Amino acid sequence: MGLLFFLFLATTISDGSPAKETIPGDKVLLLGPGTGPGVDRAPGLSCLSWRLAVETNNIIDWNTVPGQCEDYIGYYMLGQQYRKDSAMVTNQALLHAQSLTVGRDGKDVWVFDIDETSLSNSPYYASQGFGAEPYDATSFNKWVLEAKAPALPESLKLYQKLLSLGIKVVFLTGRPEDQRNVTSSNLRLVGYHTWEKLILKQTSYSGETAVAYKSSERGKLVKSGYRIVGNIGDQWSDLLGTNPGNRTFKLPDPMYYIG
Ligand SMILES: *[C@@H]1O[C@H](CO)[C@@H](O)[C@H](O)[C@H]1NC(C)=O
Ligand SMILES: *[C@@H]1O[C@H](CO)[C@@H](O)[C@H](O)[C@H]1NC(C)=O
Ligand SMILES: [Mg+2]
Repeated sequence: MGLLFFLFLATTISDGSPAKETIPGDKVLLLGPGTGPGVDRAPGLSCLSWRLAVETNNIIDWNTVPGQCEDYIGYYMLGQQYRKDSAMVTNQALLHAQSLTVGRDGKDVWVFDIDETSLSNSPYYASQGFGAEPYDATSFNKWVLEAKAPALPESLKLYQKLLSLGIKVVFLTGRPEDQRNVTSSNLRLVGYHTWEKLILKQTSYSGETAVAYKSSERGKLVKSGYRIVGNIGDQWSDLLGTNPGNRTFKLPDPMYYIG
């Protein structure tokens, strides 16, 4: 890897053009020569086609980002396109929410996934690499325990607007129950100040797929009388299965796949 290109994370994940928030540590991502924002020039494989196929769930069960696409994915995630793509999704979600007649019984809920949906782990990936190496649970959990993940600004805006419409929020995450405290502190720290439920994965689900776990928990919500009017997540496994909600919204995530 050459040192020709430097992309400063601090200028990326924030609300709009000039960065207002600073990512802890001001980490610098070093990208190799021959790549650049939006440049898709890996020989033999179009990284844009790969990313589109991943986002549309045509490529499934993948373990790592193709090595020749890692820089491309890094630029995508830290640049404006990821943010624009996210805004396109959350704007549609908001239109759907605004079209609903919210009940007076307080039972209309919107399900939010957490990682790469409510919170962004981009600072972690910027320091570890953008998905070309296999998932490293030890370093990822260490990052989670720091409770320093910024909000994905587009999701936070959607969250605020849903609350103002009288829709309640349920967080449903694959994070384990023993990360409850750190997860709720992280959520509060970045502006998610209230929720109807924060559902973390119990050990009884170990060995089950994310689709099975999330479907089962959504089923419990529906059984308790909640109406899932919307559901947003970065993984198809957040949105497939039973009781997905009246509409589902898929945020981008070309860094990892959870089945
Ligand atoms: C979480 O926080 C609560 C209250 O602050 C505390 O009683 C509990 O021990 C904490 N749990 C863990 C796993 O840290
Ligand atoms: C939402 O989904 C439920 C369950 O499928 C259905 O009964 C209800 O009519 C739907 N509501 C709207 C507004 O589409
Ligand atoms: Mg997620």
